[in-house]
Amino acid sequence: MKHEGDQTASDSGTQPLLLRGDLGHCANRGRTYPREGNMSELVEVRDYKCLRYLRQSLQQFHLLVGSNASGKSTLLDSLLFVRDLSRLDVEAAVHAHRRSVAELVWKGGGDAFEIALEFRLPEEVRSTLADDCYRALRYEVRVRGTEGGIWLEVENLWLLAAPQRRGREREEVAGRSFPREPEVPDTIVIPPAKHAPKGWRKVMSRSKDGRVYVQSERTRWNMGLRPLPGRSGLTVIPEEQERFPAAVWLRRLLTERIQFLMLDSYAMRAPVPPDAPDTYQPTGANLTKLVEGLQKNHRNRFRDRVQHVHTVLEDVEEITVRERPRADALQRYCKGVG
Ligand SMILES: Nc1ncnc2c1ncn2[C@@H]1O[C@H](COP(=O)(O)OP(=O)(O)O)[C@@H](O)[C@H]1O
Ligand SMILES: [Mg+2]
Repeated sequence: MKHEGDQTASDSGTQPLLLRGDLGHCANRGRTYPREGNMSELVEVRDYKCLRYLRQSLQQFHLLVGSNASGKSTLLDSLLFVRDLSRLDVEAAVHAHRRSVAELVWKGGGDAFEIALEFRLPEEVRSTLADDCYRALRYEVRVRGTEGGIWLEVENLWLLAAPQRRGREREEVAGRSFPREPEVPDTIVIPPAKHAPKGWRKVMSRSKDGRVYVQSERTRWNMGLRPLPGRSGLTVIPEEQERFPAAVWLRRLLTERIQFLMLDSYAMRAPVPPDAPDTYQPTGANLTKLVEGLQKNHRNRFRDRVQHVHTVLEDVEEITVRERPRADALQRYCKGVG
């Protein structure tokens, strides 16, 4: 996943990802919910930076392409903001992105913005829930900031039953909505004390006085908690697989699994030791091992990759992995790459 241009997120200087579709007008690009088996997300944003309103589903591999200042980085930044909320105070999360909430609000025209993310639950988590109708988790927040401070005005975590297409999306799928301007909803979050839509089950919510209410995903067990000032409800949901398998999975996803591809050319030149991890490392340090795995187990995909590299580096006709014998260990390197 790669992206060009400036970075305003807390991971400034990193190389994030992708946009499919032009966000040129920061318009709503509502999509149908990702298909089953595809652990994709839906990003919904209101009044965040240059995004007046956006509703965009993300596929497992998703390229963001758009002209400068069309909102690519902002979309990524909204994911990072939620990631930051899962481990920082809301004030620190805001300050990791801008100096104030006002600077984060669309055109500085208000004192609140909203972000909602939906995550498809993996099968192993779904199967542990009491009711197998739940397929996704939706986390939503409204952040408000005034001279009096910065706080989470709304915060909810929902289990969602099978996704229902909203009316507008149904039309878009049928291709009838173009070129209608997107409608901006009044809000994308469910305020405290409002009824949940049909098929939504509350896992966590925050009351006006800052108390957080959690309800087990498997039983009717529930309790009220009072987080430290500024802490999100996400940070205080008990780390219990029994009661909160989905919420615990989500918190781990947010805190540990949002990664940025940041190739380290120095590390990539070094030989890869045999005990290097088999899984993708964002520095590219174990690229040789991944190439070898692809070559051995996925011949066709490997050939496609070589051809792809060939399109930009015409001299490269083949990529090979060699094991280099050494007295103490077997080291590997990638000819022409490592
Ligand atoms: N609070 C805000 N309100 C409106 N526009 C904003 C706000 N903050 C930043 N922007 C604008 O958003 C644009 C940056 O969008 P960005 O997501 O970085 O685009 P891209 O990554 O597609 O080049 C800039 O034009 C910037 O001025
Ligand atoms: Mg950018």
